[in-house]
Amino acid sequence: MSNNTKSNALWGGRFNSGVNDTMQALNASIKFDQRLAQQDILGSLAHVSMLSKQGIIAKEEANKIISGLDLVKQEIESGLFNFSEAHEDIHMNIENRLFELIGSTAGVLHTGRSRNDQVATDFRLWVRDATDEIVILIADLMKSFLHQAENGIDTIMPGFTHLQLAQPVTFGHHMLAYVEMLSRDKKRFIDSRLRLNECPLGAAALAGTSFPIDRELTAKALSFDRPMANSIDAVSDRDFALEFLSCCSLCATHLSRFSEEIVIWSSSQFNFVTLSDSFSTGSSIMPQKRNPDAAELIRAKVGRVNGSLTALLTVMKGLPLAYSKDLQEDKEQVFDTKDTMCLMLKVMKEMVADLKPNKAVLLASSDKDFSTATDLADWLVKKLKIPFRDAHRITGNLVRVAEQQGCNLCGLDLDVFKSFDERITREVYKVLNVVKSVESRQSYGGTSPCEVKKQVDEWKKVLN
Ligand code: ARG
Repeated sequence: MSNNTKSNALWGGRFNSGVNDTMQALNASIKFDQRLAQQDILGSLAHVSMLSKQGIIAKEEANKIISGLDLVKQEIESGLFNFSEAHEDIHMNIENRLFELIGSTAGVLHTGRSRNDQVATDFRLWVRDATDEIVILIADLMKSFLHQAENGIDTIMPGFTHLQLAQPVTFGHHMLAYVEMLSRDKKRFIDSRLRLNECPLGAAALAGTSFPIDRELTAKALSFDRPMANSIDAVSDRDFALEFLSCCSLCATHLSRFSEEIVIWSSSQFNFVTLSDSFSTGSSIMPQKRNPDAAELIRAKVGRVNGSLTALLTVMKGLPLAYSKDLQEDKEQVFDTKDTMCLMLKVMKEMVADLKPNKAVLLASSDKDFSTATDLADWLVKKLKIPFRDAHRITGNLVRVAEQQGCNLCGLDLDVFKSFDERITREVYKVLNVVKSVESRQSYGGTSPCEVKKQVDEWKKVLN
């Protein structure tokens, strides 16, 4: 340890004085990187066991350090640990405490290691846990959507393009669209974990070490698939954090889309779904109001998640190899995003479970605005062998007439249909029915209840 009391005890050997207060405020990361405490101790335990196994330090030294780290761990878990800005970051806070607890033996722990590979290892471990947690939460949310899908297999609702009524679809089908999106999100997280799961420990400052360390051993002890192959890359890479953030960004984007639908659907203008009081709030001035605040907040949180991704991309841009202190700016973005994501996923799961589709309104709203016009055009093609483009034009003309008469297509006299083509019969009225329309869309992935049921059954197998 340095005998200079003013400079940092762990790196202050060549310094005459300590850092000034404002510099300390800028430099210290302990306020946020204390969240890496558990990972830091795990990393040190793996490192110290390896050092002893390789004969780099004595067994007695290793044992002393291991019990010391155990005490530190207990202090942290019980909230008794005193995190101090003077010790800059989590690595030096823990190492300093170890010195206090076991004395100078603590000094051999940092053999063949640097804070550069240490922080990269800790952070990978942390992001790995965060990824696993999010994957579970996504699966939970998928189950919530699936449950709604199953209950809504034959609930008819308006399908929109351009937020204009396009064709009737089923509520179950719409819910399954989110199951598909979330399943891609989940796979993206799982896939990014494969690339994350390599161990930087032993890369030391950037160049590796002359000590006969065993990197396979530490990698295995920390459940990494393998040690990272290039020590320069190992300390400078933050792709895993960027991938994590971009996976979050896309998943949050999906959640914001459903949030927007909830906001629209729960408005009195639409009244497609009822959201219980638990996810709504009142207005302080308008006593009648019930606002979908939960959905609005989830819709907005994506801004913050995208902000974190942009922030870290910007930190990384143009950063020369290997380690620079810029990399300390990686953590807050990731911590905040993980917390935000977990909250969004949990609330969304409950909110989806809570939704009550208003079946009568959904049915009535789907049976407007000539929503079965495509069915009519298709019928003309199938029955009368009219080319689709001509069928499209005839149907368009019929829609115009109906509009003039102020009725829907079903309300038109058969004579009107016949005026466009003599061969049209009463059978045409059947295809104009929304239930029939939905039932007829049996192409793979289509909206018919029998197709939706098949997909629901497939998803049940996957998710249960
Ligand atoms: N607190 C630092 C970080 O988060 C740890 C690594 C410091 N390394 C260094 N060479 N100063 O990146």
